[in-house]
Amino acid sequence: MNEYYNERAAEFDEIYTLGKPPGAVTDPELYMEEARSLGQLVREHCRGSVLDIPCGTGYWLQFYAANCSSITLVDQSENMLGEGREKALAHGVEPITRVMMSDALEVPLEDRSFDTVLVGFFLSHVTDSQMGPFLHRLRNALKPSGRVLIMDSSWTRYRGSRPREGTTVRTLNDGRQFEIYKRYFERDDFDRFSDSCEMDFTVQYEGKLYLGVTGTRRE
Ligand SMILES: C[S@@+](CC[C@H](N)C(=O)[O-])C[C@H]1O[C@@H](n2cnc3c(N)ncnc32)[C@H](O)[C@@H]1O
Repeated sequence: MNEYYNERAAEFDEIYTLGKPPGAVTDPELYMEEARSLGQLVREHCRGSVLDIPCGTGYWLQFYAANCSSITLVDQSENMLGEGREKALAHGVEPITRVMMSDALEVPLEDRSFDTVLVGFFLSHVTDSQMGPFLHRLRNALKPSGRVLIMDSSWTRYRGSRPREGTTVRTLNDGRQFEIYKRYFERDDFDRFSDSCEMDFTVQYEGKLYLGVTGTRRE
């Protein structure tokens, strides 16, 4: 997984800007349209002290930079974090940005310290047994009034014949191939996760490809 994302860092944003996810798609405009909708969602929901975990290239930073007092970017890929640093510089928020190269499942997070935790397209790489503990740690890192914003791939008929969960082959622009674990979500999945992480989830966006869900602490 780390090698794949590290090698993909330079071309990663193409999924959002060109509608070009790894593999062939017939409808790039749909990918771009839904990325624009998610950008709006980020603008609406991310504010204050923001933890972007894992941040990837920091693509969503452009939508929250104006609303935040501090930014923490976490990722295990050095190249992704390099792209994230560039975004922070480009948007004038480098002085309030902290960058941490770490495993998102292990990184120490201070209790009650973030207004917003953004988790973009990571839960789809997290297995059921990792899910509860990971979300619970994010819940603890939220201030009582804070919220998590989760954006990820949804399981809809637009996904064609691919499997809902399992190992999948990803191909980079230069043809190199990697195997990664990937799953797709339905809104009910978040009801299932709710008890184990002591959070209440609300679906904010349900598109043909993507799902946007906020979570708040259950006290
Ligand atoms: C699909 S990208 C999403 C990036 C970004 N959140 C977004 O929405 O565009 C997944 C990211 O997760 C990172 N990643 C995967 N497993 C990780 C782990 N265990 N700890 C930290 N980062 C991880 C990868 O390096 C990659 O940057």
